[in-house]
Amino acid sequence: MSEISIQRVMTSELELVEPLWNALREHHASIVPALGPPRSRAESWQRRRGQYAQWLTEPGSFMLLAKRGRDPIGYAMVHLREGSPTWPLSERAGELETLSVHPRERGGGVGTMLLEAVHKELRALDVTELSLHVIPTNQATIRFYERHGFTTFGLWMRTDASKAPGVG
Ligand SMILES: CC(C)(COP(=O)(O)OP(=O)(O)OC[C@H]1O[C@@H](n2cnc3c(N)ncnc32)[C@H](O)[C@@H]1OP(=O)(O)O)[C@@H](O)C(=O)NCCC(=O)NCCS
Repeated sequence: MSEISIQRVMTSELELVEPLWNALREHHASIVPALGPPRSRAESWQRRRGQYAQWLTEPGSFMLLAKRGRDPIGYAMVHLREGSPTWPLSERAGELETLSVHPRERGGGVGTMLLEAVHKELRALDVTELSLHVIPTNQATIRFYERHGFTTFGLWMRTDASKAPGVG
């Protein structure tokens, strides 16, 4: 088996992660069936690509790609936000927007390698806080994050606003 390496991804190289984004899109659709079918692969990627390109213009943002030999097998996207206005935890905080490992490679340590590389980048930026959103039915992934020191801080809630009381 080829060696695993980790490299930075520039905006001009974003297409490298499209299959890995698609794997995550399929994973999310499978764990939240109540929201119905996801956007098409092409539309979903067009939207996500636009977000990545925007984040990558911001100072301190980075995308890391794990490769086995020449094959992309996982990636992480991090951008920086302002630290909490309430608690003096960190001036700037990293937001892990994506962590995705190719289905064939899951459970083999690639996600751990990427997370360690993310922490290294953040240390170099003097950023001491890292947060992320995870869907509650993504139980194996929640265990993965907990094993890596994450704890639940908030709940990300949603509603269909068109059906809210007093609308319509
Ligand atoms: C979550 C994820 C990034 C972890 O990367 P990984 O390379 O599989 O993880 P590692 O091999 O470093 O660590 C293994 C642990 O990850 C967890 N894990 C989460 N999903 C897993 C999966 N589909 N297969 C195997 N392990 C998984 C397990 O708890 C496992 O621990 P165990 O070996 O004690 O069972 C990866 O499994 C993945 O891409 N999952 C689907 C997409 C996803 O949920 N991304 C995060 C969105 S917030």
